[in-house]
Amino acid sequence: MTRVVSVVCLSMFLGSWVAPAGCQTVARTASMPTYTDDGKLVLPNQYREWIFLSSGLDMSYAPNGMAGHSTFDNVFVNPEAYKAFGETGRWPDKTMLVLEIRGAATNASINKAGHFQSSEVMGREVHVKDEARFPGKWAFFGFDDNDTAKMVPKEAACYSCHEQHGAVDTTFVQFYPTLMDIAKNKGTLSARYLQDEKTSSGSQKTSKPSSNP
Ligand code: HEC
Repeated sequence: MTRVVSVVCLSMFLGSWVAPAGCQTVARTASMPTYTDDGKLVLPNQYREWIFLSSGLDMSYAPNGMAGHSTFDNVFVNPEAYKAFGETGRWPDKTMLVLEIRGAATNASINKAGHFQSSEVMGREVHVKDEARFPGKWAFFGFDDNDTAKMVPKEAACYSCHEQHGAVDTTFVQFYPTLMDIAKNKGTLSARYLQDEKTSSGSQKTSKPSSNP
């Protein structure tokens, strides 16, 4: 019986060059952007198995932030793109970055201070590099509760802020700690970002536990 199964398995494998399920061959599924016929992006559901880049807590673009409302944002990238970035400091075609927004909670179980992430997902946004498809090479998609999303129109502030302030190729590599040194070493930081850094001269602050002199 086992033999019959393996013969069928082998012939199917040779016939199609694709190992069917049950053949003990691990099929490596590449993470490629997928679109519906009317041009919506399909949410890459497996993004939680991708490479984690960073978690921002209450990040805001306005000085006063979001009063009384705490959120985390988690950023993930598909493994193929992460590997390529490690080698070149650049994002390859078909890169997908996912920003997942979650509520920040406190005072539950044994937690008395500080914040942890709640199970509530408040939104997901995807930044896709697809050179042949998008005139500016990149496009944004914002997902609500659906598994598909329309492209955010080019006039939206997403594009201008990312273009003007993202450290590498419209992405916020300056906030992704494992990538920033690679970009520096490979010389791929954008001219605009370098100019911003020169003029702002405000160096990054790291919160450290206060120590007595
Ligand atoms: C005023 C600036 C600004 C605007 C406007 C903005 N973003 Fe961002 N975006 C950021 C910053 C800063 C980060 C880094 C977040 C972190 O470090 O956790 C980021 C990260 C992201 C990421 C993760 C991948 C990457 O490109 O670095 C996605 C996806 C994203 N934003 C989507 C959007 C979408 C969609 C919109 C518009 C609806 C938008 N952003 C508007 C500043 C901006």
